[in-house]
Amino acid sequence: MERKTRMILALDVSDREEALKIAEDVSEFVDAIKVGYPLVLATGLEIIRELAEFAPIIADFKVADIPNTNRLICKQVFEAGADAVIVQGFTGRDSLDACIEVASEYRRDVFVVSEMSHPGGAEFLQPVGEAIARMASEAGAFGLVAPATRPERVKKIRKIIGDKLTIISPGVGAQGGRASDVIAAGADWVIVGRSIYKAELPKEAASEIAAEIEAELRGE
Ligand code: C5P
Repeated sequence: MERKTRMILALDVSDREEALKIAEDVSEFVDAIKVGYPLVLATGLEIIRELAEFAPIIADFKVADIPNTNRLICKQVFEAGADAVIVQGFTGRDSLDACIEVASEYRRDVFVVSEMSHPGGAEFLQPVGEAIARMASEAGAFGLVAPATRPERVKKIRKIIGDKLTIISPGVGAQGGRASDVIAAGADWVIVGRSIYKAELPKEAASEIAAEIEAELRGE
């Protein structure tokens, strides 16, 4: 995945035409499109290949099962054309290793959730977030998912993993995080969903956030 605009679109709509239209409209402002259960359950797994015309696809299935089942899930995801998959880290090293093994067979990437961006993310997952980040680094994951709603946590996690892993960070806009704060805290990419796909003009909304990120990177 190239680091150009430093933004990933979370395309959580449930209509195929709408998804394709938004993807085409905003493709110049995003480095990847994140597709998850809402869109895939509504339209089918084929949507991944259709959207891959516009940008690399990250399949956000938060895979969280025993190693064998994880392996089977990841195979399906990569066969469908995804460039990367998001998996949970709390299931342990063997479950994560299974995903990373399949990803390396397909030469694709694995992102590991270290903690989640919503308020409930602080209840159970945050206390083990740093241990998950260390495990993901040792296991050879490509990146971590860390919360844009808590830039101080992104900063802490960046300190723990150094430059070895990338960080993608959801929670910008609708959940309250600011793109520039999260990039400043050390995220490689921010993930933005509702602030773009629910905007009256998704292209304008994406362009504004991209400009905010660019200004932050220029040090303005
Ligand atoms: O609409 P919004 O910008 O809040 O979308 C954020 C996206 O990131 C959603 O697809 C959500 O499922 C996802 N996500 C998250 N927190 C995580 C992992 C993924 O918000 N820790």
